[in-house]
Amino acid sequence: MFVHKEQLEYALRPEDYASPEAHHAEIDSLFLRTWHPVCLAGDLPQVGDFLTIELAGQPLLLRHTAEGLRGYLNICSHRHCLLTDARRGHAAGITCQYHGWEYGTDGRVSKVPDGGCFKPFDRENARLETVPVATCGQLVFVRLAAEGPTLAEHLGGWTDRVARSFSSPYRCNWRYEAEFACNWKIPVENTVETYHLPSVHPTTLGGFGMIPEQAQKHYLENRSTTLIFNMGRETPLMKRQRRVVSWLGGGTDTAEYVHHHVFPNLVFTFADLYTYCQVYLPVGPTTSVTRSWMFSLDGTRSNPFARVMARLVARHGVRANAAIQREDATVFAAVQRGLAATPFRGCLGTREERIWCFHRHVLAGRDRDTRPQRP
Ligand code: FES
Ligand SMILES: [Fe+2]
Repeated sequence: MFVHKEQLEYALRPEDYASPEAHHAEIDSLFLRTWHPVCLAGDLPQVGDFLTIELAGQPLLLRHTAEGLRGYLNICSHRHCLLTDARRGHAAGITCQYHGWEYGTDGRVSKVPDGGCFKPFDRENARLETVPVATCGQLVFVRLAAEGPTLAEHLGGWTDRVARSFSSPYRCNWRYEAEFACNWKIPVENTVETYHLPSVHPTTLGGFGMIPEQAQKHYLENRSTTLIFNMGRETPLMKRQRRVVSWLGGGTDTAEYVHHHVFPNLVFTFADLYTYCQVYLPVGPTTSVTRSWMFSLDGTRSNPFARVMARLVARHGVRANAAIQREDATVFAAVQRGLAATPFRGCLGTREERIWCFHRHVLAGRDRDTRPQRP
C-alpha cells in the first residue's frame, strides 16, 4: 500500500536539474559525507593490486596494501599530476608517473628524486590525501570526506542483509557502467517508481503490468525508502523459482522483491535469486554515471545439475537486467530536454511517493540560498 492518498507536490525546479550552482551544492551537501560503492573486494585480490576511478569529480586511487584496502586522491602533491592513468594494475608502492615521487601506505612521501633541490622539504604538505574505505560483503565503499557516518551507520539496519546478499552463496555475474546525458537525479527518480514499467518495459517487465497497490508496500524513512513487492507465492513463476532456490541451496524463499533506496544515490535490490547494488553519480550538472553489480544465487551444492542451474540463473539475470537498463536509459535524455523548456511544475502520483521523499532529502541537504531564484 502507498503511504499517501493524494497526489504530491513536485518540489524540485527545472534549474535543480541543470544549474552549476545546484550541482556544486549537491556535491557538497549530499555526496562528500556519504558512502559510494566503487568495486568488489575480489577486484583487488593481491597486495599491490590497484585501480583508479572517478567519483563525483574526484579522481581516486584504491590499493590493496599489506594493511588492507586503502584509498587516496589520485593526485600528486608535487605538481598535481594524476599519480597514474591506469584503470587498474599491480605495483609494489605508489610512484607518481610524472617525476617519480614515491609515497608510503599512509600517504607520506617516502622518496623524492633529487630531493636536495626541495630544501627545506615540507613533508606534511607533500602528503597524499587519503579517503576512508570500508567493505560490506564483497562490496567496497569509499567516502570522500574524512569525517562522516560509518558505512554501517549509512546503511542503517540493512547492513547485515547487504553483507549476506553480496557474498557467497551469491556471486557477482554482471556489472554495468553507463554514462547518461542527464542530471543524476533523473535515473534515481526512475528507479524508485514502478509507474513506468508497462510503457518502458513492455516485454521485459511488462508481465507485471501496473503492479496493484495491494501487492506492494512503501516504507518512507528519513534517510531511505523501500518498496516491498509481494510476488505471490503460488504463481507459476514463483513456484518455478522456489524449486530453483532449493536445487541450488543456501538461498531464501521469500517470494518478495525488495527495492531499497539509501539517500541520496544508492540502490539495492533483493530477490531470492538475484541481488543488485547500483549507484548514480553526478559527472556535471547534466551528465551522470551509473555503476551496478548484479549478484545471483550460486548456491551451496556442488553437484553438476546445481552448477548448470546456477549458470543458467546467472545468464538469465544478465540478459534481463541488461535489457531493463537499456530500456530505462532511453528516456533519461528526453526528460532532461523537457526540463530545459518546461512551463509546468510537474506532479507526483501516490505511486511515485518515494520520489517525493527523495526530493525532500535533496532540498533539506542543500543550502536553498545557493539556488538560483526563479525569475
Ligand atoms: S607531479 Fe608527481 S612527481 Fe611531479
Ligand atoms: Fe525501469
